[in-house]
Amino acid sequence: MTIVRRATVDDASSIARVHVETWRASYAGILPDSALVKMSADRQRSSWSRVLNRLEGHQTVLVAEAASGVIGFGSCGSMRAGSGLAYRGEVFTLYVDTDHQGQGAGKGLLAALFRSLIEQGMNSALLWVLAANPAQFFYQAMGGNRVAERHELLWGATLPEIGYGWADLSRTVGAGGPCSVS
Ligand SMILES: CC(C)(COP(=O)(O)OP(=O)(O)OC[C@H]1O[C@@H](n2cnc3c(N)ncnc32)[C@H](O)[C@@H]1OP(=O)(O)O)[C@@H](O)C(=O)NCCC(=O)NCCS
Repeated sequence: MTIVRRATVDDASSIARVHVETWRASYAGILPDSALVKMSADRQRSSWSRVLNRLEGHQTVLVAEAASGVIGFGSCGSMRAGSGLAYRGEVFTLYVDTDHQGQGAGKGLLAALFRSLIEQGMNSALLWVLAANPAQFFYQAMGGNRVAERHELLWGATLPEIGYGWADLSRTVGAGGPCSVS
């Protein structure tokens, strides 16, 4: 059984492991190989420790945990400035360990992130995904609408990204909504 809970600083190592593994598996052929090779779980652990130690009031980091330990994580908060779009919240990260994908953890995490945004008074959300990432079809299945495009400079490569928007999170996670979980 998998549960979703708030992350603590003690989860930094597990989050870092999932982060590096999923980036290497998901972004091979999309992001420069040299950057993926250079990724280090140790640096990610330091970075996640900093984030978890200094969470601002509007920010949430969640982990999905199975009997084997942390198998996924996600984070959200107020929408970052600069997009010009009228959404209140933003999902910053969502990653599920490759061995555990397709078993409901991503949906559970996304629903919990949306609930956290609703609790903070944010009933709409935006999420950016690399245009080459098949995860965008997951976001469509979760009721997201393709609302924007942009180009981001990531590790020396300029890559197209697609913005997915949810205009009414209560409806999305409510009974019968595309992201409702039992
Ligand atoms: C994208 C991701 C978070 C989805 O999580 P997951 O645990 O694999 O997905 P779930 O098992 O919760 O799937 C929920 C639903 O979405 C569907 N789905 C999942 N991935 C999908 C995809 N790539 N394309 C279409 N549908 C998809 C499932 O079929 C399922 O449908 P159902 O509710 O009708 O059964 C996960 O696969 C992942 O971490 N991928 C690699 C990293 C990544 O790209 N993250 C996103 C960065 S923006």
